[in-house]
Order: sequence, then C-alpha cells, then structure tokens
Amino acid sequence: MNKPKKKNHRKTSYEEQMIDVKISSSVSDLHIDEIHSMLTKAFWSPGITKEEIQKSISNSALVVGAYLPDGTQVGFLRVISDKTRFAYICDVIVNEHFRKKGICQKMVKYTLSSPELKDVYQWLLMTKDAHGVYSKCGFQAIRNPESLMSIFHPRPGRRTLCKL
Ligand SMILES: CC(C)(COP(=O)(O)OP(=O)(O)OC[C@H]1O[C@@H](n2cnc3c(N)ncnc32)[C@H](O)[C@@H]1OP(=O)(O)O)[C@@H](O)C(=O)NCCC(=O)NCCS
Repeated sequence: MNKPKKKNHRKTSYEEQMIDVKISSSVSDLHIDEIHSMLTKAFWSPGITKEEIQKSISNSALVVGAYLPDGTQVGFLRVISDKTRFAYICDVIVNEHFRKKGICQKMVKYTLSSPELKDVYQWLLMTKDAHGVYSKCGFQAIRNPESLMSIFHPRPGRRTLCKL
C-alpha cells in the first residue's frame, strides 16, 4: 500500500517574512494622521493629540518613518539628541498589521547609522517588553540601572502607564 504523502510543513524563515519598505528621515514624508492612529493605541501615549505629535516632531533631532511602496506610513520613531554625545530613541511604533516583518529593526538600524548622529556615543531607550527587538540592533540592558534617576509627573485625565 502506498504511504500517504507527507505534507511539506516548511517553516517560513524570517527573511521570507520581511517586506520591502522605504525608510526615510524626511519630515515632509510623515503622515501625521497615520502616526496619530498608531500612537494613540500605544500604551505610553493614549489620548495623544495631533498637536502634541507635531510639536514633538518639530523638537526632535531626527524622525524616521517606514513607508509601503504606495507611500502608506507603517512605522515611526523619533530621536531626542544633542547630536554630539547623547541620543534617546522613543515613540517606536509599527502598524499592528505589519509587525514581525523586520520594520522596527530596519528603522532602528537606519537611525543608529544616521550621518547626523555619527558622533553620538551614548544611546538610550526605554521598553516594557520589546527588549528582543532592540538587542538585535545592538542594545543591551543597562548595567548599572541604579545610576539612572527620573522625575515622573502623572498627567491629569490621562492614563499613566509608562514610568521608570
Ligand atoms: C515593538 C515593535 C515596534 C516591533 O516592531 P516589529 O516591526 O514587529 O519588529 P521586527 O519585525 O523588526 O522584529 C521582531 C523581532 O523581535 C522580537 N521581539 C521581541 N520582543 C518583541 C516585542 N515585544 N514585540 C515585537 N517583537 C519582539 C520578535 O520575536 C522578532 O524576532 P524573531 O523574528 O526572531 O522572532 C512593534 O511590535 C510595536 O509597534 N509594538 C507596539 C508598540 C511598542 O511596544 N513599541 C516599543 C516601545 S519601546
């Protein structure tokens, strides 16, 4: 009797899941509506307004977006920095329908190799549970967390989910 043919359950590799996105640091490429739609769902910025997003973009050292070939924005991050010694990466977000396709890593690696930030030697970021993504880009847990200090002001009328 012929044996039933085995189904080919080949595991999809990470490379195959990657999608082609354009990464850009041009402010004119940004879509505030799409950034707002992503950030308002993020645990650290519920209720954020478009005006706050616009202000934070204007005052950032670098803003990075990821775009589909049709121009739709599917990723965002921004960098607060003196462009000399120190940089802090924040508001890292990927559209929920396009996650696990390498977009975050592309944006972070692009940021780390940005010519504008080439002199920076101290990079920081804060994450609740995405350590694995950032470690693929070279980040390590802080060796001496006791050396960090913070002030956290709860914001009336806003959920305060993100504090050190
Ligand atoms: C975290 C986030 C930005 C990652 O974006 P992404 O484009 O899906 O990430 P990538 O595809 O580049 O990398 C995914 C890899 O990191 C790993 N990883 C570890 N922790 C992860 C996490 N919390 N979320 C997503 N991936 C994570 C994945 O397992 C995957 O590795 P693998 O391919 O070996 O399985 C995205 O999930 C997101 O927007 N989440 C909500 C907002 C958020 O938490 N932002 C981080 C604030 S610091």
